[in-house]
Amino acid sequence: MSGFSYRRGELFAEAVPVAEIAAAVGTPVYVYSANAVRARLRAFAAAFADLPALFCYALKANPNLAILRLLAAEGAGADTVSGGEIERALAAGMPPERIVFAGVAKTDEEMRLGLGRGIYQFNVESAEELERLAAVARAAGTTAPVAIRVNPDVAAETHDKISTGRRGDKFGIPLEEATAVYERAAGLPGVAAVGVHLHIGSQITGLGPFARAYRRGVELWRDLRARGIAVERIDFGGGFGIRYREETPVDPVALAALVRDLLGGAACRLIFEPGRALVGEAGILVSRVIYRKETRAGRFLVVDAGMQTLLRPALYDAWHDIFPVREPPPGTPLLVMDVVGPICESSDVLGRDRRLPPLSRGELIAIGAAGAYGAAMVSNYNSRPRPAEVLVDGDRWAVIKPRLEPAAQFADEVVPSWLPGPDAQDRPSGSHGDADD
Ligand SMILES: Cc1ncc(COP(=O)(O)O)c(C=O)c1O
Repeated sequence: MSGFSYRRGELFAEAVPVAEIAAAVGTPVYVYSANAVRARLRAFAAAFADLPALFCYALKANPNLAILRLLAAEGAGADTVSGGEIERALAAGMPPERIVFAGVAKTDEEMRLGLGRGIYQFNVESAEELERLAAVARAAGTTAPVAIRVNPDVAAETHDKISTGRRGDKFGIPLEEATAVYERAAGLPGVAAVGVHLHIGSQITGLGPFARAYRRGVELWRDLRARGIAVERIDFGGGFGIRYREETPVDPVALAALVRDLLGGAACRLIFEPGRALVGEAGILVSRVIYRKETRAGRFLVVDAGMQTLLRPALYDAWHDIFPVREPPPGTPLLVMDVVGPICESSDVLGRDRRLPPLSRGELIAIGAAGAYGAAMVSNYNSRPRPAEVLVDGDRWAVIKPRLEPAAQFADEVVPSWLPGPDAQDRPSGSHGDADD
């Protein structure tokens, strides 16, 4: 279930009219369906019910505390890539024993945070990081549970910028070098090698790349055990694609069958790190038409959402369906137009050559499958209001992140007291080299 449907000619999020939310909190606004998120996690959990699998939600996809709380209540853990994400996961009530920590640039401080809170696993990305983690853990009088992230050299058959498992990508350790790193870990006080980790990219819709990468991961896992290195789990990462346009999303049942086949009954704990697959189709971005512009060069629908609100089209040439909030009566002629945002960049296009009914100033549109990597990448670029986020759960809804007006965005900026201006005497005198010091 995606959670969004037309009823009596208007778009609803579960049982709430989307126009009611837009009127109350303003536009642009992200709207998420709680039951769509739950349904996605439950579909994965059901498919893997006979296997010891933990689903660690990749919270980079949408790190809002309410989304995390919702998923934690369903039994999910968290896949984090920074100390900040660990803090978020903990703040949302995710138990530390369900938190894994990846990322190529973990600092000592972040390692100490993870160790201090007793997280489940550090996904180590380089030999140098392993040494550092061991030293930090020893200094803290503890041992870090480690999975080495291997780079299986598999093309994910997805967008170049979200492929992470090819030789030459910055992630993981090449397979042929991994055994030596595990052997080093086995003799290194401060770390305990508990698993194998891999993650080959995002928005992968075919099973083929997963099959190739997982096979290599399972072979390594078996080989390490044969060498007496007691790795007891495999973290297969995330990357499960969703439907943006005409893609067929990864079917959790087929994925589970693949994993069962590869393991052949071997006792191995499994971790998966789905991000997009849990929240992507469970969110829309609602935007208001500011102007229509029709010239001999083209027809544009200028709306208040743009690359500052949803970066994916500008960053990845990504497609998102765009549809009106008020359902057009049957037979309404459709017009071809570019849907563009307010930002002063030619890349600020949400959709080119879209077929939409005639829309007037002030009308609402919805941008589909915007629940993942949407709000997470919002910026203050061009100082426009930052969108609110709303969670709908049946007939209830709540603002889970308020709209942030421009004045609040620059409230923490400081003008040094040596710069002339009407309010110079009121400014804090904390600047280095300040004449008042
Ligand atoms: C290590 C790791 N795990 C999981 C994910 C989540 O990917 P997705 O949202 O495609 O499931 C990512 C995304 O970049 C990642 O880097």
